Amino acid sequence: MTQRVYNFSPGPAVLPEPVLEEAQKHLVALPGVGMSILEISHRSAAFTEIIQAAEQNLRRLLEIPEDYAVLFLQGGAKLQFGMIPLNFLRNTGCKASYVVSGTWSKQALAEATTQGQAHAAWDGKATNYDRVPRDEEIQIAPDSLYLYICINETIAGVQFPREPETNGVPLVCDASSELLSRPLDIRRYGILFACAQKNLGPAGVTVVIIRKDFLDRCPDDLPVMLNYRQLAEHKSLLNTPPVFAVYMVKLVTDWVLREFGDLNKLKEFNEKKANLLYEAIESCGGFYTVHAAPGSRSAMNIAFRLPNGDIEKEFLAEAKKAGLYNLEGHRSVGGCRASIYNAMPWRGVVALRDFMLRFHEENRNTLG
Ligand SMILES: Cc1ncc(COP(=O)(O)O)c(C=O)c1O
Repeated sequence: MTQRVYNFSPGPAVLPEPVLEEAQKHLVALPGVGMSILEISHRSAAFTEIIQAAEQNLRRLLEIPEDYAVLFLQGGAKLQFGMIPLNFLRNTGCKASYVVSGTWSKQALAEATTQGQAHAAWDGKATNYDRVPRDEEIQIAPDSLYLYICINETIAGVQFPREPETNGVPLVCDASSELLSRPLDIRRYGILFACAQKNLGPAGVTVVIIRKDFLDRCPDDLPVMLNYRQLAEHKSLLNTPPVFAVYMVKLVTDWVLREFGDLNKLKEFNEKKANLLYEAIESCGGFYTVHAAPGSRSAMNIAFRLPNGDIEKEFLAEAKKAGLYNLEGHRSVGGCRASIYNAMPWRGVVALRDFMLRFHEENRNTLG
């Protein structure tokens, strides 16, 4: 198969086609360098330029203030679940509060409790993690160093429409499946992290944005590769970084700047795409049901169900025949899920919408 399909995978996910083409064009020899990005030293002038440009692009798009460091790390988003409490809770007496709004924040809290005092400020279990909390439902423990949120729970498709009110307590945030999809008020955050394989690039690099006063708290007795301060002091070059993945983040952020200019435009585009699908779902009279409650529905991951498992299987098989791939829900919850990150083109979402309406027309009468 050489034709590209529409890829609704939650991650690793669709990348912008012009970015893939550019990477392909320059794979054998980077212009002016004469070597592949896969072959150059991470200490070379060429790579220094690339990593600095990736950082500058992120700073520009997200309006990251100067008193925040931007790191390019390995170990995935999941390593951050452990690294944050390791650096800030272990042996400190500090507390942290966690909003548990789905699978990923639940895992993050479980990791934190192995390192120090962390507790759930809210847990969405009662309604099967179908919404985010209202501000007044969040119980931040007194003296919490931070309030942790997963701003977009990728599996259930539950997203905070805006940052929760914390009365000055800094947020620590897993933004894996939404960073770069809309503007965020970075000043509200102590730490924001995101694995790249959704909106930023390929798997292999995790972007961490961290307020510099947090770096001063990192203990000296950690392995250097787990110590944010050391990583920041060495500009993410304590060891060999994932050179190719960082290069791709640079190309993706170049693309965002070229295509959209700023994140307000991208937010508009992403909301328009998501609304097209949510409205189609609503128009089918209950044939499709969205997991997330109104007000908490994600613009990135739309998790939905059909009336029964058999019809879901048929839906997925037919969708694939129509060139619409990776619409299966996460293995832990089943159902269906359409991930429509920045790089999912409008025509891909229209194709899915048309398919869903047609499938509903053809199957609504066959159900008892
Ligand atoms: C919100 C969120 N957090 C964390 C992760 C884990 O990321 P990684 O596989 O890079 O560790 C994922 C992966 O899909 C995710 O969606």
